[in-house]
Amino acid sequence: METVLPSLIDKHNRHLNYLRISITDRCNLRCLYCTPHDGLAKLKHEEILTYEEILRLATIAVNLGVNKIRLTGGEPLIRKGVLQLLPSLVSLPGLKDISMTTNGIYLKENLENIKSAGIKRINISLDTLRRERYRKITGYDGFEQVWEGIQLARQLGFNPIKINMVVMQGINDDEIVDFARLSLNHPYHIRFIEYMPSGFADQGTHLHHVPNSAVKEQIITSLGKLVKVLNTEIDGPTDRFRLEGAPGEIGFISPLTHHFCQVCNRLRLTASGHLRPCLLSDQEVDLKTLMRAGASDNDLEQIFLETAKNKPRAHRLVSEHCGSLSGQMSAIGG
Ligand code: 5AD
Ligand code: SF4
Repeated sequence: METVLPSLIDKHNRHLNYLRISITDRCNLRCLYCTPHDGLAKLKHEEILTYEEILRLATIAVNLGVNKIRLTGGEPLIRKGVLQLLPSLVSLPGLKDISMTTNGIYLKENLENIKSAGIKRINISLDTLRRERYRKITGYDGFEQVWEGIQLARQLGFNPIKINMVVMQGINDDEIVDFARLSLNHPYHIRFIEYMPSGFADQGTHLHHVPNSAVKEQIITSLGKLVKVLNTEIDGPTDRFRLEGAPGEIGFISPLTHHFCQVCNRLRLTASGHLRPCLLSDQEVDLKTLMRAGASDNDLEQIFLETAKNKPRAHRLVSEHCGSLSGQMSAIGG
């Protein structure tokens, strides 16, 4: 008889069915809001999980009810061999959704292979539609590359194609309406993300978030009514809308100003093999060391269950408005 494993439920009755896997802490960009100014502290090769280890942990998570996996980084497409990892993840029984978040620089040349591996959904980070500004925000003159990647993704039938814009006061908030307008002409899902202060990135940059309520207001004033799109089980904290008649969507992810935590269904596996129940808490378990010391699948399952159970109820940014991210975003995977 088949044994039914318990699933990942926390003390606040949130079902943790979504695992974000950071496959590398490295990135080819230096986004203002993400990178420490003295450069990334790179993990050594032996400090990051091997693909076999990632697959083993993903299998355990899926057996415990995770049905959505997202690959993140750093930048996932810069890790060698990543395309070979995809098919084995895609074929895990029980997985309903697998997607990738990329900065899009290497998208064009990889899209065919990503597609043939069975990935249909893709998220692309893009904070401006202006070439020179892109260079200022990311440190690299790559706007055209990313934009061509997005267009090719559309031609190849990726769906949805989500474009993530982190809105920063005085940096790109004059492009909110331009981004929203994209959803009128293309089937893209434009997602406005509130900038989250990070201990590293903040030093010297003085970045400020724009509350998504203000973003929404601007869109309505310029482009008209936003019609609510019902969330599905796999949407997580995105508040979804559509401009009337638009092929695309507009979403709001509001870690600072909204009821984000109550609906958070995520666990994160960092590039160094730590399981984190909350992006904004230091709490983490070092699965890599345990695995390399010979932990059994059963031991690892117990740790997943325990970590899920102890997921913090809410993060400090919401409750105090003065906290900041304590890990480096590029290593945790955003
Ligand atoms: N605030 C908000 N979002 C962030 N990301 C990274 N750093 C931050 C931050 N400080 C998210 C962005 C980016 C993805 C890789 O991670 O959405 O597109
Ligand atoms: Fe930018 Fe993402 Fe790279 Fe950070 S990890 S520097 S947000 S592209």
